[in-house]
Amino acid sequence: MTFRLVLVVACALVDPDGRVLIAQRPEGKALAGLWEFPGGKVEPGERPEQTLIRELAEELGVAVEEPCLAPLTFASHAYDDFHLLMPLYVCRRWEGTVTGREGQAFRWVRPDRLRDFPMPPADEPLIAHLVDLL
Ligand code: C5P
Repeated sequence: MTFRLVLVVACALVDPDGRVLIAQRPEGKALAGLWEFPGGKVEPGERPEQTLIRELAEELGVAVEEPCLAPLTFASHAYDDFHLLMPLYVCRRWEGTVTGREGQAFRWVRPDRLRDFPMPPADEPLIAHLVDLL
C-alpha cells in the first residue's frame, strides 16, 4: 500500500472584533457543506505562505502580505486514503473585502462559537488553539 501525504495550508483571518472567518466547502468538493478555515493544497515548489497568499486571493479576493501571516499550529489527520498535514496561520491584516469568489458561503464567527459549525475532522482540533489565542 502506498502512503499518500497531502499538505494543505489554512488560515484564520481575524477581524478587529476577534471573529474568525470560516468558509463552507462547496457542492462537488470532498466534504461538501462542512465549514473550514480557508486555504488549499501546497503546490510543488511553493512555500506554505505563498500558497496562502495565492488561495486567499483566488477564493476570497483579499490581498495578504507575507509578514502578516503568523504560524499558530498544525493539524495532522489520517483520512482513509491519505494523511493530511495542515499548518494553520493567523492573519489580522489584509487588503480588500472578503468575497466568496467561488460561490462559497462564509461567516465571521467568535472563536467560542466555532464548534457550532460542522468541520472536517482535521480542522476541529484547531479550534482550541484559536480559542486560547483569541
Ligand atoms: O481543499 P481540497 O479539497 O484541495 O483539500 C484536499 C483534502 O484535504 C480534502 O479532500 C479534505 O479531505 C482535506 N481538507 C481538510 N480540511 C481543510 C481542507 C482540506 O480536511 N480545511
